Amino acid sequence: MNSIFAPAKINLFLDVLGRRPDGYHDLHTAFCAVDLCDELTIEFVGRREDSGWLAIRQFTVEGPFANGTPADARNLVWRALDQALLIVKQQNARFWDRFYPRFDLRLVKNIPHGAGLGGGSSDAAAALLLFRRIVRQLLTEGGLPDLDLDPKELRRVATALGSDVPFFLKGGMAEATGRGELLGPLPTRELILLIVKPAFSISTVDAYRALRPEMLGPASDAYGLRRWLGRETEEFPVLNNTFERALDPVYPELRTIREAMMEHGALLARLSGSGSASFGLFPDTASRDQAHEALRGSHACFPCRSLGPVG
Ligand code: C5P
Repeated sequence: MNSIFAPAKINLFLDVLGRRPDGYHDLHTAFCAVDLCDELTIEFVGRREDSGWLAIRQFTVEGPFANGTPADARNLVWRALDQALLIVKQQNARFWDRFYPRFDLRLVKNIPHGAGLGGGSSDAAAALLLFRRIVRQLLTEGGLPDLDLDPKELRRVATALGSDVPFFLKGGMAEATGRGELLGPLPTRELILLIVKPAFSISTVDAYRALRPEMLGPASDAYGLRRWLGRETEEFPVLNNTFERALDPVYPELRTIREAMMEHGALLARLSGSGSASFGLFPDTASRDQAHEALRGSHACFPCRSLGPVG
């Protein structure tokens, strides 16, 4: 079956360091993939008979958060597939001549939007990974020599699609700098989590706009996090998210949600990315489930765990 899960992420910490001349911001963050997932299916439906570029015959979006997800070229999945086709056209003329493919896409949206959970970015990375698998399958079935897509090209395309997309090509946990695309390893430790999304969403662009220069700079103990994840210490490090200072005054509910999770025993409760979802990291499932009980009446709640790396 040509399906793939596209996991959400949280940011265990997120320090916005400064504004760059290109309009983006330099970050220092720790990504963690979690088992709240969208699901993408790409079906090869045969050779195209026309000469147009359009490779997508049908694009359906379903699931609890389908509403507000465009099923056209505005969707990052569509753009990812377009870019991936371009790579394969340049890299493997034999594939292109033989298959000149057309696809049906189906996306099941379980990850809420405007939440800082990276759903759209993860869908895009999933499209690249799944497309790569399909190309290899078609080559093998067609008796043509196997050829993997150039990983450097995939990373370049991923970075152009969005700052979080390269992380989702790897999954698991990673420390990141730059726009969020320069990735380094983190020790893996299974985390028991609760993600809480209030009724409102926050656009990433608006969240960055709300930052003031005095809010920026390093504030999190990344070294302490590495040691804690590697079980070298049980002392939990100080971890921050720069966006809380900018967004808490506008959305007081964000602080209330984090406080409720801390009251139920969370080791850490932070905004994820630029919000509006927050997550709590708990020492055990009992305390996580209590927090879930307390918050489920007023917010969308997603109990989940951290995931290992892709593949
Ligand atoms: O990279 P992506 O398309 O996900 O970013 C969306 C917007 O968020 C950018 O246009 C920019 O305004 C802001 N952004 C930023 N610095 C980053 C990542 C995103 O300013 N590192």
